[in-house]
This record gives sequence, structure tokens and C-alpha cells, in this order.
Amino acid sequence: MDELRRQNYLRMMGVTQWRLRQSDSPEAIQQAVAEAEADVSLVERPAPAGDLIEPTVPVTTAVDQSDWLTLREQVKTCRQCGLRAGCSQTVFGVGNQQADMLVIGEAPGADEDRQGEPFVGRAGQLLNAMLLAMGFKREAVFIANIVKCRPPDNRDPAAEEALACQDYLLRQIVLIQPKLILSVGRISAQNLLQTDIAVGKLRGRVHAFGETNIPLVVTYHPAYLLRSPEQKSKAWQDLQLALSVLGPVSRDQGQA
Ligand code: URA
Repeated sequence: MDELRRQNYLRMMGVTQWRLRQSDSPEAIQQAVAEAEADVSLVERPAPAGDLIEPTVPVTTAVDQSDWLTLREQVKTCRQCGLRAGCSQTVFGVGNQQADMLVIGEAPGADEDRQGEPFVGRAGQLLNAMLLAMGFKREAVFIANIVKCRPPDNRDPAAEEALACQDYLLRQIVLIQPKLILSVGRISAQNLLQTDIAVGKLRGRVHAFGETNIPLVVTYHPAYLLRSPEQKSKAWQDLQLALSVLGPVSRDQGQA
């Protein structure tokens, strides 16, 4: 990738050495995303790193739309924890059901609860920019959360709430069979990897997710990056690591 284009992608993520703090305003993020969207046809992917774990995904089983419809219905009618009583709707997840990359966040916030879609607020705009910086349009990946219902007052989901929602996420993973899981933020990473190690120590290497062994890369949550923009360069390193695991992906998947 030439330096100009690289700088453009990094700029829309906010990864520049000379960037003013005020460029994190929603307008600036929106403008950077719009500019980058106009120029995202020729992203080159780095070659896969030789010493990384090879993706091993679950044995392929026939997946048809009824599997997704059933799962959607199960999530919609779920009352396995108390969260559903306090939110306005479930947020199932969105995107390409055959995505190479599955992004997993924490939980819906107020905007997501209103719109029924994950990552649609300010953090979502930055996530979109991060995806574009990787060469993915938002709709090319699948985006889900650890829990499908908004916790009250934006508190962290409790362990038992994450557990109650776990089977839905696992089912999504089995249906999608992604080549890579990008885990964003502490709640996502700690639940997926069953650990209480800090994100700063989990990022920067490739994990294997559960029994599926799907490669999993941890990075900072975009909401955290909005508060701590000096960490964006580390997030960019994580995204490059994720790209190196993915290797070349098919262009008809909606690569940006
Ligand atoms: N933060 C998350 O982790 N998920 C969302 O869907 C929105 C914000």
C-alpha cells in the first residue's frame, strides 16, 4: 500500500502523530470516514505471517437461513437474565453472515438499544473507521456483542448475564465460521478468553478461541480509544496483526 493511502486510512482512524485532539469530534470522524470511503477500492493485504496459528474453524455443516431465523427468534424472545426487562429491544448483531472477520464488542449502549444495531454511536463511527483502515466496509464483516441487551446505566454486563447470552454468540460463531475474531475491549476479551488479564496484556498476539481454535486478536474498545487517542497507534498494530492472520480474503466479500 502506498504511503499516501496508508496515511489516509490512518487519518480516518485518528492515528497521526500531528493530529489535534479536536479531530476526535463526531464531525471530524464522519468527514474522515466519508473521505476514506471514497478511496477504499485498492487496499492490499499484507502476506500472512508464517508463524501464526492457521485458522481452524468448526467442521462445515450446511447453514441455511432457517438457522439464522431460529436463532434470531430465540434471542428476541429470550428472558434468561434480567437485562431484557430493562432494555427496549434485543440487538442481535449485523453484517455478512459469511464474513471472514467477526467483530465482538461488549453490549449495546443507548444508541444501539434505540436502533437495534450494534456500534451505531460515536464508538461505532470509530469502529467503522478502524474497519475501513483494514480494508473492510462495515457490511463486509459481522458485528456482535457479548450480550444482546443493554445493561442499565451502561454498566458492564455481569458474569451471569454474559453466561446467559453465551450460547447465542457461540451459535453465531458456528454459523459464520469466521477466519478471525476481532475482540474489542476488556469485557469482550475477558469473556471470550475466560480470563481476567488486562487488555493491554492480551493484545499484540494471536489467541485461539475456545474449542473452535479460531484465531482471535484483542484490541482496545473504540470508546476507550476516543478517550485515550494516544493508544490508537497500538490499536492499528493490532489491526495489522489481524490482517496478517486473515491473509488475502475474497474481494466479493465486500472488501473496501
Ligand atoms: N459498545 C459495544 O461494545 N457494543 C456496541 O454495540 C456499542 C458500543
